[in-house]
Amino acid sequence: MRILFATGNENKVSEASSILSPLGYHVETLVVNGIKPEFIEPQADGIEAVALSKIEQAREFVKGTQLESSIILVEDSGLFIDSLGGFPGPYSSYVEKTIGLPGILQLMSGEPARGAEFRAVAIVSGEGFTFTGEGISPGEISNEMIGQMGFGYDPIFIPHDGDGRTCGELSPEEKSSISHRAKALKVVSEFLNPPSK
Ligand code: IMP
Repeated sequence: MRILFATGNENKVSEASSILSPLGYHVETLVVNGIKPEFIEPQADGIEAVALSKIEQAREFVKGTQLESSIILVEDSGLFIDSLGGFPGPYSSYVEKTIGLPGILQLMSGEPARGAEFRAVAIVSGEGFTFTGEGISPGEISNEMIGQMGFGYDPIFIPHDGDGRTCGELSPEEKSSISHRAKALKVVSEFLNPPSK
């Protein structure tokens, strides 16, 4: 079954592919006439609202094309830091581009409570259905940036499901076995292809 992932982030496509291909799905980046959709992200209170806006924009993007009846996937995620009241949360992308990871470490400087979580909302939509799956990866913010793997906040996030390394130190396979996105995509895949009873 082919799934078109509407995203400009190829890291996300490879992660989704490594999670969904063993389950029988072929994940590709959504491209129409050589162009990927560029989403206008609403400044919303939650990543659910952002993901819903993305799926509406993606469906509009394929309207009238031969991909109109395809299964489309969107996803929105963010880093929620406990001691910062959930910041940057839905603003994670903007915060990464502005103050960046050094800015987050600066905000957390001297803070002993370092709990945080990555959250992901994945929405899959096809003819006559739209389904939402959520995933959470709990962890801690590290004291420094460690690791070159992954993307985004990976070098400062130590997942509780891991062995003390940051996500920036995990191989793609290791990250896919515990990530927020993997959990959200698993929920979505079970909707598309429920396990037989
Ligand atoms: P978006 O879902 O692409 O809008 O991502 C929101 C922000 O969270 C961006 O700054 C991403 O780099 C970051 N982010 C999303 N998923 C991950 C992840 O798996 N690891 C590290 N950063 C992530």
